[in-house]
Amino acid sequence: MNNFSFQNPTRLVFGKGQIAKLATLIPAEAKIMVTYGGGSVRRNGVYDQVVAALEGRNYVEFWGIEPNPRVETLRRAVELGKAEGVNFLLAVGGGSVIDGTKLISAAIASDEDAWALVLKGADRGGIPLAAVLTIPATGSEMNSGAVISREETHEKYAFYGRYPEFSILDPEVTYSLPDYQIACGLSDIFVHVMEQYLTTPDQSRVMDRWAEGLLQTVIEIAPLIRANKTDYRTMADFMFSATMALNGYIAQGVTEDWATHMIGHELTALAGITHGASLAIVLPATMSVLRDQKGDKILQYGARVWGIDGGTTEERIEATIARTREFFKSLGLAVSLTEAGISLDVIDTIAERFTASGVHHGEAANVDGEMARRILEACK
Ligand code: NZQ
Ligand code: ZN
Repeated sequence: MNNFSFQNPTRLVFGKGQIAKLATLIPAEAKIMVTYGGGSVRRNGVYDQVVAALEGRNYVEFWGIEPNPRVETLRRAVELGKAEGVNFLLAVGGGSVIDGTKLISAAIASDEDAWALVLKGADRGGIPLAAVLTIPATGSEMNSGAVISREETHEKYAFYGRYPEFSILDPEVTYSLPDYQIACGLSDIFVHVMEQYLTTPDQSRVMDRWAEGLLQTVIEIAPLIRANKTDYRTMADFMFSATMALNGYIAQGVTEDWATHMIGHELTALAGITHGASLAIVLPATMSVLRDQKGDKILQYGARVWGIDGGTTEERIEATIARTREFFKSLGLAVSLTEAGISLDVIDTIAERFTASGVHHGEAANVDGEMARRILEACK
C-alpha cells in the first residue's frame, strides 16, 4: 500500500425529509444563489421542499444547467452571481448541476474567464457551495471534481474546485428518475469503482474488498431497481454506493486508471452520448485490449465478483470480460459504438486529439492516441 493522507471535508446529510435541514445548514447571513437543471425538480417536489426550507432567506435562482454542463451557460450564472454579490451556492440536481456549480464557485471568486480556469485544471479558491443531490451517479456531491464541456469546440475536460460544504442525500428524490438515467447512473458507479480497482493485485486487501463490495452491491440492486424504483432501502443503497464509489476513499494507497473515462468523455463531447452510457461501451474494450497488463486483477475480479474460477487463464479472462459486457446489456445500455448509433469517424478524431495533446492516460501511462485507437476499434 502506498503512503497517503486523506481528508474529505464534505458533511453528508442522508435520509428522508433531510432537505428541510437546509434552513440550518446554510449560514444565516449568506447571500445564496440556488442553481438548477432543466426542471425535473419542479415535477418531483424537490423544488417545493427547497423553497420551503429557504423561506425568509436572501437568495436568487439560476436555472438551465444542462446535462454535461456547458461553460457558455455557466458564464451567465457567474455574471448573475457577481452582480448579486452572491457568497454561497446551493446546487440542486445531479452531477451536471453540482459540477457546473463548482466552476461557478471558482469563477465568481476569480477575474479569469471560466474556460481559462477549466484549462488550468484546478482552482480551490472559490466561494462555498453545497448540494441537494437528485441522481446517484457521479459522486460529485462528495468530491471536488467537475467535468465541463465547451459547446463551441466540442471539448470536455475535468476541473477541480471546492468540495461541497455539505450534501443532502434523500433517496426518495430518486423515485422520479427515468429508467435510462438509472441505467447510466449504475454504469457510472460501476466504472468509477473499476477505475480505482482494476489495476494490479496485492496493493491493499482492504481497498480490494471495499471495491468488490461496492461492485457486488451495484450488481445486486440493479434488478431490484428495475422491479421497483420506489423501494426506499434499494434506492438508499443506490445513492450511498454512488457517493462511496467516488469520494476519494477507495483510491487511497492504491494505483488508479481512468483511461476508460478519458475516452468516454471524448465520446460525449463529440457524439453527445450520456456519460454512463459511454463507459458501458469503453470499459469492456479497455479490459480486452489491456488484458496482459491487467490480467491478474481481471482474474481476481472475475473470481470474487462473478464467481468465474474454471478454465484456463485466457478462458477466465474472456468469460470475465463477457460477463461485464452482459451486465451493461442487462441495464439496457448499448455496448458498441454501432449499437449506440455513433459514427465510427470518432475513432480517428479521438486518436488524433490524444496524439496532438501528447496525453498518456491509464495506470501505466500507456493510453496515448494509438492505444486509444485500439481500444475504440474494439468498441465497434
Ligand atoms: O436537468 P433536470 O431537468 O434536473 O434533469 C436531469 C437531467 O436531464 C435528470 N434528473 C436528475 N435528477 C432527476 C432527474 N430526472 C428525474 N428525477 C430526478 N430525481 O437527469 C438528467 C441527467 O442529469 P445529470 O446531472 O447530467 O446526470 P449525472 O449525475 O449522471 O451527471 C453527469 C455529468 O457528471 C459528470 C459527467 O461527465 C457528466 O457531465 N461527471 C462528474 C464527475 C465528478 N464530478 O466527479 C465524475 C463522473 O465520472 C462524471 O464524469
Ligand atoms: Zn464517471
